[in-house]
Amino acid sequence: MKIVAINGSPRKNGNTSLVLEAVRREVEAAGVEFQVFQPGARVHPCLACYHCLNTGSLRCVQTDDMVNDIIAACIEADGIVLASPVYHGGIAGNMKCVLDRLMLAAGCGQNQLCHKVGGALCTLRRSGGMETYQQLLGTMDAMEMVIVTSDYWGAVHGAEIGECRQDTEGMEVAAKLGRNMAWMVKVLDAAKNQLPPPESLPRTMTNFVR
Ligand SMILES: Cc1cc2nc3c(=O)[nH]c(=O)nc-3n(C[C@H](O)[C@H](O)[C@H](O)COP(=O)(O)O)c2cc1C
Repeated sequence: MKIVAINGSPRKNGNTSLVLEAVRREVEAAGVEFQVFQPGARVHPCLACYHCLNTGSLRCVQTDDMVNDIIAACIEADGIVLASPVYHGGIAGNMKCVLDRLMLAAGCGQNQLCHKVGGALCTLRRSGGMETYQQLLGTMDAMEMVIVTSDYWGAVHGAEIGECRQDTEGMEVAAKLGRNMAWMVKVLDAAKNQLPPPESLPRTMTNFVR
């Protein structure tokens, strides 16, 4: 069993990395594999070419960044953690680029992310944590994922690199998310034969254009 995390920070070894290490400790202690992808700042936005959706390729036509590796890893994974710093009250721009392409290639059409376990975390200096956390949850919510939570909202405070360690409560919230996610991937794995997930039927797409 495996959980992958996407770190949306362009900063190497920043607060988001440290928060994800707290998640890693719990996930690995529970015997579940954990891998972090950090695509950095050089990530292309979605071209809206719809090639991924029209062909069902499960890949993006843009191949010179890390996004196709992330797409493939998320399709394979049992759980996905979305983690981003707060930038001007929302997720970082490069994280948005990754999520737009991941969700179109893997989540729309024949949804490959359906019933995967999901969790969200953000890091921030002061404000915008709730909005960013909700934005990350909303991404997974629209992909029919099984969202797992901690015992408080996933927002860990710190501005300079390493300051998040001083947010003891935030780090504990992140660790508990890791424990709960590891538990849930095991629960779903143990139940898959006796209690298979319900069929995910395609919905009627209406574009509000008449
Ligand atoms: C462009 C930019 C915008 C930011 N906007 C916010 C913000 O709106 N609210 C906030 O509390 N912190 C904001 N921050 C601070 C970061 O969220 C904070 O330093 C976070 O810990 C960075 O995580 P990292 O070390 O993983 O990169 C911003 C930082 C940058 C570089």
